[in-house]
Amino acid sequence: MDLFEYQARDLFAAHGVPVLDGAVAETPEQARDAAERLGAGVDGGRVVVKAQVKAGGRGKAGGVKLADSPEDAQEKAAQILGMQIKGLTVHRVMLAPAAAIEEEYYFSVLLDRSNRTFLAMASVEGGMEIEEVAATKPEALARVPIDPLTGIDAAKAREIAEQAAFPAELVDQIAHVIERLWDVFVSEDATLVEVNPLVKTADGTVVALDGKVSLDENAGFRHAEHDALADVSATDPLEQRAKEKGLNYVKLDGSVGIIGNGAGLVMSTLDVVAYAGEEFGGAKPANFLDIGGGASAEVMANGLEIILSDADVRSVFVNVFGGITACDAVANGIVSALALLESRGEEVTKPLVVRLDGNNAEEGRRILVEAAHPLVSLVDTMDDAARRAAELAAATPTPGA
Ligand SMILES: Nc1ncnc2c1ncn2[C@@H]1O[C@H](COP(=O)(O)OP(=O)(O)OP(=O)(O)O)[C@@H](O)[C@H]1O
Ligand SMILES: [Mg+2]
Repeated sequence: MDLFEYQARDLFAAHGVPVLDGAVAETPEQARDAAERLGAGVDGGRVVVKAQVKAGGRGKAGGVKLADSPEDAQEKAAQILGMQIKGLTVHRVMLAPAAAIEEEYYFSVLLDRSNRTFLAMASVEGGMEIEEVAATKPEALARVPIDPLTGIDAAKAREIAEQAAFPAELVDQIAHVIERLWDVFVSEDATLVEVNPLVKTADGTVVALDGKVSLDENAGFRHAEHDALADVSATDPLEQRAKEKGLNYVKLDGSVGIIGNGAGLVMSTLDVVAYAGEEFGGAKPANFLDIGGGASAEVMANGLEIILSDADVRSVFVNVFGGITACDAVANGIVSALALLESRGEEVTKPLVVRLDGNNAEEGRRILVEAAHPLVSLVDTMDDAARRAAELAAATPTPGA
């Protein structure tokens, strides 16, 4: 999960990383009040108004503006709010006191998947896009692998600062900030902590002026407090509901609902359905949903409920390969899921194509045949089932059309 700059700023502050005062505003009036609190217009005090979107290059896009009074901040916020940056609408701005910047540096620490370790990067050429520095002046970007067992201690932090050739008189300060940023990285279970720019101000102090943090959602169980950082308004409502039910669900833009057990099987089901759909007006998968091993009737019901409530879905393909979970259990799951949905008052009207193979497949098929649900049809092979589901999706009219 990527965080907004203001959220990164709050985490930095909580871990002792030097940051500026900050305030968030959703309207120009709120921006005006915040600017007043931050001292805009008093003794020449200025503030920056910064677009909060999860994309880089905000400054270049006109999303970072200086203001010299509360009224000016209100005006700048009015210009920035509602702006589109890289396809994202700005709903919030962050205000901060304007810093007297002398130099702009770069620092990040991230999970380096290709080298199976962590990597710290630092440069005295910050401010601009670091990809550009890396491409045009690679020697200006220090890259220091970080052993996950020892992490960044005081000595490692100095090594990074020295390799990046920070001014000697700043090395102590920079090293301390790097240690604090490593603390953010580890204690928050982040996969990226980036500061661009990290600045030296006129009075010689080092401050993080911008922050990017990506949190590792796999560690979310250790951080109940991270839930509050999720941008619920930007999440697809079906994905949000699926997440609340603990399902592995991703909304896609097609019309064939997909349920399978095991991420690999579901991925290949998407391919097979997309391929089969070419014959039927380009019918495509409507979602990814992995119900995992040991799918109970309840999990099946929750999955079906999410998929059936997707207005784009015309047919559903349940593709199960019985392994640890035997097909008879899955078949019973499907039968009770349909009964459960009907008892919840959900009207089930979309056809379901079921393919069962593997452990106890025959018994599973027998259960479905016996239940004889009018909307459920059994197809023996994955390819044929995909064709049937695509055909049904193409043949089912759009609701309201
Ligand atoms: N508090 C501040 N005071 C003075 N100048 C600032 C302040 N915050 C940002 N700036 C200036 O604006 C520039 C851009 O700000 P920032 O790094 O936050 O956004 P960005 O780099 O354009 O966006 P992104 O990092 O998402 O690409 C900084 O490099 C800095 O020169
Ligand atoms: Mg930046």
